[in-house]
Amino acid sequence: MTETQQSSKAPVVIVGGGRMGDALLAGLLNAGAGPVVVVEKDPARRSELSSARSAAIVGSADELVSHLGGDPPSGVVLAVKPADTAAVCAELVGAKVPLPRVLSIAAGVTLASLESSLAGVPVIRAMPNTPALVGAGASAMAAGHRAGSADLDWAKQILEAVGVVVELPEHSLDAVTGLSGSGPAYVFLLAEALVDAGVLVGLSRPVSLQLAVQTLIGSARMLAETGEEPVSLRAAVTSPGGTTAAGLRALEAGGLRHAVLEAVSAATERSRELGRS
Ligand SMILES: NC(=O)c1ccc[n+]([C@@H]2O[C@H](COP(=O)([O-])OP(=O)(O)OC[C@H]3O[C@@H](n4cnc5c(N)ncnc54)[C@H](OP(=O)(O)O)[C@@H]3O)[C@@H](O)[C@H]2O)c1
Repeated sequence: MTETQQSSKAPVVIVGGGRMGDALLAGLLNAGAGPVVVVEKDPARRSELSSARSAAIVGSADELVSHLGGDPPSGVVLAVKPADTAAVCAELVGAKVPLPRVLSIAAGVTLASLESSLAGVPVIRAMPNTPALVGAGASAMAAGHRAGSADLDWAKQILEAVGVVVELPEHSLDAVTGLSGSGPAYVFLLAEALVDAGVLVGLSRPVSLQLAVQTLIGSARMLAETGEEPVSLRAAVTSPGGTTAAGLRALEAGGLRHAVLEAVSAATERSRELGRS
C-alpha cells in the first residue's frame, strides 16, 4: 500500500467553514473522498454546517485534537480570511495538531510566510475562484519547498473536488488572480451588459436574463467540450456579411479586446502590489 492510499482513510481537516470552506466540504463529500472534519469558531455557523453536511464540525484546534484521538489527518486546509491565517497556524501548532501537510487558499498569503508559521510542515498554496461554490472552480496551486509529490497529489484531489486545477510556480499566482481569480467578475459584467442590451432592443428583462445566462453557459460548454480554440468557434458562427459580423465589428470598435487585456493586466499588477504590502 502506498503512502497516499494509507492516508486516504484519514480525515481531511478544513479550518474555516465559511463560503470557500463549505464549498470544499461539499465537493469532498460529493466526491466520496472520505471523512472531513471542519474547524469553525463561529457557533451559529457550526450549527448551520452540522445541519447541512455529514461531517464532524468542531470549534477549535484543541477540540480537533480530541476528535482526532491521536490519529493524524491526511492534511489540513486553511480556508480562513488571509488576515486570520497566521493566528490559525499558531493555534494549530500550539494545540499540537498533527500536520502531515497544509494547503492554504488564503489570497495573497505567501508560501514563505506559511512556511515560517508552520516550521517543518510541507505547504501548498492555492488560488481558487468563486465558481468553486458550484463545483466549477478554476484553481492554481504552487508547492512550497518541503512539499513532495504525495503532498501535491493530496492537494490536487481536494481542489479537483470543486473544479479544475493547474500546478504553477508561486510567482504565477498573481497572473492567475488577474485571469481566473477576478475573471468571474468580468464575466458577470459582460452578463449585465448583455441583459441591458437585450432590454435596449425590446426584450423583457427576465427573458433577456434567461437568454444571456444560457448563452454564456452554452458558449462556455462549447469551449470546454469541443476543445476548439475560441477563434475557430467564433469564425464558425460569423457568416460573411451577416448579423454576427456586424455585432463583432461594433465590439472591436468599442475596444473590447483591449479592455480585457487591460483588465487582466491591471488585476495582476494589483495582486502584486497587495502581495508586497
Ligand atoms: N471567496 C472566494 O471567492 C475566494 C477565492 C479565492 C480565495 N479565497 C480565500 O478563501 C479564504 C476563505 O474565504 P471565505 O470567503 O470562505 O471566508 P469566510 O466566509 O469569512 O470564511 C472563513 C471562516 O473561518 C472562520 N474562522 C476564522 N478564524 C478561525 C479559527 N481560528 N478557527 C476556525 N475558524 C475560523 C470565520 O469565522 P468568523 O467569521 O467568526 O471570523 C469564517 O466562518 C480566504 O482566505 C480567501 O482569500 C476566497
